[in-house]
Formats: sequence, structure tokens, C-alpha cells
Amino acid sequence: MRAILLNPGPVSLSDGVRRAVTRVDLCHREPEFFDLQDRVIKDLLEIYACDPAEWTAVLVGGSGTSAMEAMVASLVPRDASLLVLENGVYGERLSKLASIYGISYETLHAPWGDEVDLDALTELLASGQVTHVAAVHHETTTGRLNRVAEIASLCDQHNVQLLLDAVSSFGAEAIPFGNACLQAIAATANKCLHGIPGLAMVLCRRTALELDLEPRSLSLHLPSWAAAQAKRSTPFTPPVNAMLGLEQALQELHKQGGWEARRVRYRKLASDVAETLGNLGVQQWLPAEQSSCVLRSYHLPEGLTYDTLHDGLKQHGFIIYAGQGDFVEKLFRISTMGEISDYDMARLEQAFQTVIGA
Ligand SMILES: Cc1ncc(COP(=O)(O)O)c(C=O)c1O
Repeated sequence: MRAILLNPGPVSLSDGVRRAVTRVDLCHREPEFFDLQDRVIKDLLEIYACDPAEWTAVLVGGSGTSAMEAMVASLVPRDASLLVLENGVYGERLSKLASIYGISYETLHAPWGDEVDLDALTELLASGQVTHVAAVHHETTTGRLNRVAEIASLCDQHNVQLLLDAVSSFGAEAIPFGNACLQAIAATANKCLHGIPGLAMVLCRRTALELDLEPRSLSLHLPSWAAAQAKRSTPFTPPVNAMLGLEQALQELHKQGGWEARRVRYRKLASDVAETLGNLGVQQWLPAEQSSCVLRSYHLPEGLTYDTLHDGLKQHGFIIYAGQGDFVEKLFRISTMGEISDYDMARLEQAFQTVIGA
């Protein structure tokens, strides 16, 4: 039986994407590959109607962390003063990257799952000491959707530049591309876009790429990737098959109504799961209105270990996801990204009833 992936990426693929990945053997130094690369860049910008005169999508081989790393390493100047907003694993990873690259940074820290304190952020920005903010849009640690519209508007007010980890939200949640502060967002093919792993991307304002900063990395230097891609080239071997899959996945996203329709679909699936679990006495970790459409966290039911829950559901053909760090024994996570049919949802309801309700 084909397992349905309810972990936050990689996702269950559509048949179209699965076929596209092996559609053709392509050399990455041939015009056919550069045509594909051009189309994918164009399609990525079209998801949120980003003006190609102002924005470009830089494709990089690697995982979501590679996109975060490329963004931080390439776009934060050496004399910058970075503020990292932390309320989960991925905010803390942004700080780790700043530390590895020797960037001067401070953190606005909140316990995992808590809200970013916008009053404290306002105060820090008003001090005039911060030049850049790095934030996570959807903190996949708990499913919290950070208030990125407010964060962007504060950054605009204080003339501070914003870098966003949108790895688990790009393609399904609203992103403030219209705010002048937003310089770049990090994303990946294998989450809300429904492609396969291996291809990361950073959507960048062209002005941010033109700063001519001294490189901190060879293989994750965004201006080099962008310059090569603009000349219908590529600096290194790119994940060609992941790009073939992503092109198909982006066509499917477009046909299905774009990111807003995807958000509606994910929200429906997430609230159906919450209702089934609620009827079985399983409580959500965060209120629905604070959670993303992509993923929600749930308290592990009393007397049931994560392993028993996971293994029981796996026998029914569903893969769920554990909590991270200290949350490993407290919560479990259900993502509703990927190709999930109504029939899969009906089977999932039965599986929950059997494994939890028994
Ligand atoms: C918000 C966020 N950022 C970054 C990452 C890292 O992505 P990867 O595991 O592909 O490196 C993830 C992974 O789930 C994520 O959810």
C-alpha cells in the first residue's frame, strides 16, 4: 500500500509530478535545460505575482536549510546588525547560521510555540540599532503562523530589511511581497509546492543581489547562481530531475487556483483532522486561528506513546510526525500538504478511530 505522507515534507506526489521527474534525461549544459530553468523561474515568480523587474527566483541545489543558509550568507552585509526572531527550531536555526557566518546578531527569543512579542520587536527596532530582521513565517515546530504582515509593517516603519524563512509556507500562505522591507524569502520544492526534495530557492529583490558583498560561501552564493541563471547557465550541477518535477507541480498549482485555493484546501483538511481528533479527545496544541493551514500540532493522548501512535497509523498507510526536542514526548504533528484525496481523508478518520479510539 502507498503511504500517505502527513509529515511536513517531503509530500505525497501527484502521478503527474512522479512521471515528470523521469520524463527525460537532460544535460544541464544544453539549451533544453536552460529553457526549463527559465520556465521554472518565471512560474515561481507568478505564484505571488512578483514583478520580474523587481524580483527574481534563484534556484539552488539543496534542502530548505540550504535556502536559509544561502539567504543569510549572501544577503546580510558584514557591517549589518541582525535581529533574529525565535519561537521554534527554525528561528533558532537562523541564529545558528548567523553565528556560523560570523554575523553580529541578537535574538528576540520566545519559548517554542509562543507568539513573537511585537511590542518588544517595536522597541528593538525603534532603538535604531537593527539593520536586518530574520524571521520564520510558519514555525513548523508547532504549526504557529507568525504574524508576518505585522512584522513586515514594523520593519517598513523603521527602515529595516527583512529576510524570511518561508520554507513551509511558500505556495499556501500570504507573503508580504508588497512590503519594501522584504528582501528575500527562502523556500523549497518539496513542501507546499508539491515537488520532490533537492531543489531550494530564494526569491530575492534584484537590488539585494546587486549589493556586491564579499562572498561568504562558494556553492551557496546567491549572486553567483543568479548571474549564471540570468545568462542561461548554471554554476554547478543543479538537481535537474527535481526541476522537471517542480515545473509540473507548478502547473498543477496554477490549474488548481494558485496559492489561495491551496490554502483553502489545506485549511479544510486540517480542520477535518482536528475535528476527528477532537471527537477522540485529542486537543490541539495551538488554537486553529494561530496555526498555519499547513500543519497543526496535537497533545499526545494520555497513555499513548508517539511510537505506538506512529506505528499504528503506519500500518494503515499514514506517516505522521513527532515533536522536536523537548516536545518529542508531548506532541505529534499532522501536515496536510501534498496529494491527499477525500478518500485518503476518510481512511485516515477510520485509522485514527482504530488506533486512538480503541
Ligand atoms: C520553516 C522551515 N524552515 C526550514 C526547514 C528546513 O528544511 P530542510 O529540512 O529541507 O533543510 C524546515 C523543514 O521542515 C522548515 O519547516
